[in-house]
Amino acid sequence: MKKLRKIIFPVAGLGSRFLPATKATPKEMLPIVDKPLIQYAVEEAIEAGFKDLIFITGKSKRAITDHFDSTLERFSNVDDKKAKLMDEMNQIVPEDVSCIYIRQGEPLGLGHAILQAKPVVGDEPFAVSLADDLIDGQPGVLAQLVEQYNEQQKSVIAVQNVDKSESKKYGMIDSNNFDSDLVKLSNIIEKPDPEFAPSNLGVVGRYVFSNTLMSFLEKTSFGAGNEIQLTDGIKLMLKQEEVYAYTFKGKRYDCGSKLGYLMANIDYGIKNSEFGKDLKEYIKDIK
Ligand code: UTP
Repeated sequence: MKKLRKIIFPVAGLGSRFLPATKATPKEMLPIVDKPLIQYAVEEAIEAGFKDLIFITGKSKRAITDHFDSTLERFSNVDDKKAKLMDEMNQIVPEDVSCIYIRQGEPLGLGHAILQAKPVVGDEPFAVSLADDLIDGQPGVLAQLVEQYNEQQKSVIAVQNVDKSESKKYGMIDSNNFDSDLVKLSNIIEKPDPEFAPSNLGVVGRYVFSNTLMSFLEKTSFGAGNEIQLTDGIKLMLKQEEVYAYTFKGKRYDCGSKLGYLMANIDYGIKNSEFGKDLKEYIKDIK
C-alpha cells in the first residue's frame, strides 16, 4: 500500500469570473483577510501530512511561486514583533516539505492541468486541491479525505449538499445508496440543468485519487470548451474501479466567485481575534 504524499494544486486557470482583479494577479493570491487563498490550501495539505506540493502554474502566476520562497529579507532596524513575523513568513512550508512547479503551457482544462504532474506523481496515489474553494473545517477537509482513503484504498472525492437550482455550477453525483456520509459513485454529471441533477450532492475542489486516474485522463478526449475535463476522466475511471464521494464536515466558500469571496472575507474577518468584534458591530449597523 503506497502512502499518500503528493498533492497537486492546479493554479493555471484564467480566473475570468474575477476580472479585472485577475488580469495580472493570480486569483489564488487574493487574500481572505490577510492570507492568500493558496496559503490556506497549502496549510490544509501540510496538516493532512502531504510532503510533495506540486503546483501547476501558467501565465501571470509568478506571484504564487514567489510566495513560497524564503526570500523575505530581514531589515536591520525592525522591532522584535516585526522580526518574529518575518521569521514566520519564511516558515510557511516546513523543511521536510517540497514545492515543485510545473507549467501548463496553455489552459486546456483541469484534467489537462492534472496530467502535467504525471512525471512527478509516478506510480503513487495523489490528492488534488483547488485553492479557490476555501473550506473551513476542523480537521481540514484534506485530512478527512485522507482518513477515508486510508480505510477504503479507493479514490474519494469531496461533496457537499447543494440546492438543485445551483446544479449548473457543480459536478453532480449519483449513487445507488445515499445512506451515509460516504457513498459509492454510480455516475457524475458535469454542471447539469436542475431537472437532470441526479442528487443534491455537488463536487467541491478536494480529491484523493488512486494512481490510475492519470491513465484515464490520458484516454479522455478534449470535451466541453475544448478542454480535458476532470469529470470525464472520473467517468472513465468509474467503469473500471470504485470511486467514493464523501460529504465532508466544514463550510465551503466559492472564492472563484465574487460573492463567495466576499462572504469568506466577512466570516473570517468576524472570527479574527484582533478586530472581529469591531467588524461585527460595523456590519450590524449597516443600513
Ligand atoms: P475553474 O473552472 O475555476 O476555471 O478551474 P478558472 O479559469 O480558474 O476560473 P474562471 O471559471 O475562468 O473564473 C478550476 C481549477 O482548475 C484550475 C484553476 O486554476 C482552478 O483552480 N485550472 C483550470 C487549471 O489549472 N488549468 C486549466 O486549464 C483550467
